[in-house]
Formats: sequence, structure tokens, C-alpha cells
Amino acid sequence: MRSASSISMPWLNKLREDAALLAMRLDQEVDASFFAPLEALYAQGDALTRRYCGKALADCRVLEIGYGTRPMRMLWLHHHGVDVTGIDLDYPLLRFSPARLVRMARTNGIERALKSAVRYLVLDRRQYAAMHDTLVAGGKLKPNAPFWGDFPTRLAIRNAADPAFWAAAGHFDFIYSVDVFEHIPQPQVDAIVKAMAGALAPNGVAMIRPDLFTGISGSHLPEWYKERLGERFVRKAPPWDHLRQNRFPANSYLNQMRLADYEEIFGKYLCIAEKAPIDYGLGREYLTPEVRAELKDYSEEELLTNNIDYVLTPKR
Ligand SMILES: C[S@@+](CC[C@H](N)C(=O)[O-])C[C@H]1O[C@@H](n2cnc3c(N)ncnc32)[C@H](O)[C@@H]1O
Repeated sequence: MRSASSISMPWLNKLREDAALLAMRLDQEVDASFFAPLEALYAQGDALTRRYCGKALADCRVLEIGYGTRPMRMLWLHHHGVDVTGIDLDYPLLRFSPARLVRMARTNGIERALKSAVRYLVLDRRQYAAMHDTLVAGGKLKPNAPFWGDFPTRLAIRNAADPAFWAAAGHFDFIYSVDVFEHIPQPQVDAIVKAMAGALAPNGVAMIRPDLFTGISGSHLPEWYKERLGERFVRKAPPWDHLRQNRFPANSYLNQMRLADYEEIFGKYLCIAEKAPIDYGLGREYLTPEVRAELKDYSEEELLTNNIDYVLTPKR
């Protein structure tokens, strides 16, 4: 049965979820392991541009779709000499100031501004400082050089489905996006992929990594995030609740697109050159015969895929 609090106090559930997410992130050490995913993205992008564009990532024009309120990936690439710009609906809080918070509240709403303010003070500030020191130690940034410089001008605050953005943006060698497409309504995903096809250079390449709705983490409930799957504790939502009774819906909008939906749209405008699930098999231990029987309308591939990299190239 649905708990009384989940019926009458959705805001309390939301607050609990935000707190759980923050606690999870606070647990994360800001050491070399924190920067490993950024290094990995750089290496992956570099390998893709060398293979498809015939040049290094550092010689490419790059776009990130949905950089988020903490554009860490873009900042990392920027300080590795990559000409990167990005687009996101949300205003990012790069530095803490009342004026920025007011601007953020106007663009993204008061709730988002307050959440970002708390997160900035307890988390982002420490992470940006650690990134600065790591870049300096690695010789990517001179000790007295500006950390932010012209970086903020590289962040467009727009809807990526807006054709006007693409008309003015020009061509890109590499376009990437991580954990974003599942949050965009399907007709807008179609418009974005169509625009990407028009904006990719003839030898360009894109890497789109959605968090697949049908995977166990696709619920976007922090207790089912992949970082926590190995932990044993009492979860409020049963596994794949979002595909079953859906008693604990996510806080954020999810388009519920399945693998076939993505592939239909990608294939309509671009070639799917590579398809690589990340950590395939997550949640297998929770896929009991009873749960599997309930989810008979989904393939095992859909249920055990969470993040998946689609490498897309222009149609010839
Ligand atoms: C879950 S966050 C992921 C952010 C970042 N990629 C990361 O991995 O931390 C999803 C982001 O997608 C952005 N987004 C959603 N729909 C968008 C759209 N139509 N155009 C641009 N950005 C969008 C949201 O504003 C949000 O910052």
C-alpha cells in the first residue's frame, strides 16, 4: 500500500530524495577517482574524433547538450584545450553570489535555485577547488591563470530543440550528451536529433548516452542508482517499480523512451555506427522469476541496460 506520506506530502518525499542524493554525493571523495569519469570522457571523445573525424579532440569544435547546473565535463575539456560550447535549459551556478541566485531563480524557479545554492556551498565549491588544483598539478592550468576566464560565455541557456540555436551555432566535429535525452519529451528528442544531423561536420561524430528508462536505475530514484545497487538496505520502492505499479514516481520528468524509440529517431536522421551499453547486467540479482514474469513485455536487454552509448555519424 502507498504510504500516507507519499500520498499527502509529495514535497516531503521530494525533500527526502534530494537529501539522499546530496548525502550520496557528499560520501564521494574528491580525489583522483572523482576525475576519472572526466578523463574517461576525454579519452573516449578523443578516440572517436580520431577514428571518425581524423583529428584529435583538441582540434575539434565540440558541443555538449545538457551540461547541467555543474558543467564539470565541459570545464574539464575546456582546460584541456578543447573548443567546447554547451546548451542547457538551466542556468548554471558557477560561483556563489546573490545576483546569480536571483538570476537562477528567474530562469529555473526558486526551488532549483535553493537546491543549487545548498549544493554549491556543501559540494560544488570543494569540487571546483579540487579540479583547479588537479589541473594545476597536471600542467593544464598555470597557478595564477584564471580558472573561469571566458568559460561562462560558452554556456548557452536555451532549449536544445530550438532551431534558432542550431541556425546560429554552425558546425561541430563532436557532439555529446550524458544523462539528458531521457528528460526531453520525445517530439523534442526528434527535433534535436534532426538538428544534430544538420550541425555535424561531414566527418563529424556524436556520442549520446541516455539513462534508459527500462533499466533498474531508469526510475531515477536515488536508492536504485547504480552506485548503491550493491548495498543491502530496505528500499521503499521494489525493483523496477517504475515499470510495474509505479507507486514511487521520480521527481524529474522522464519521457519513458525505450531502446527501440531511441533507435528509430537516431536511425531516421543519422547512422548508428556503434552501440555500447555501460555496465550491462546491473540489477540482475533483483530480476527474480516473479519480477521477470511481471515484466514479460520487456526484453532482458531492456531491463539490464542502464546507460548506453550511441555513436552516431551523418548519413552519406
Ligand atoms: C539529469 S541532468 C544531467 C546534467 C549533466 N549532463 C550531468 O550528467 O550531470 C539533465 C539536464 O538536461 C537538461 N535539459 C533537459 N531538457 C533539455 C532541453 N530540451 N534542452 C537543453 N537541456 C535540457 C536539464 O536542464 C538538465 O540540466
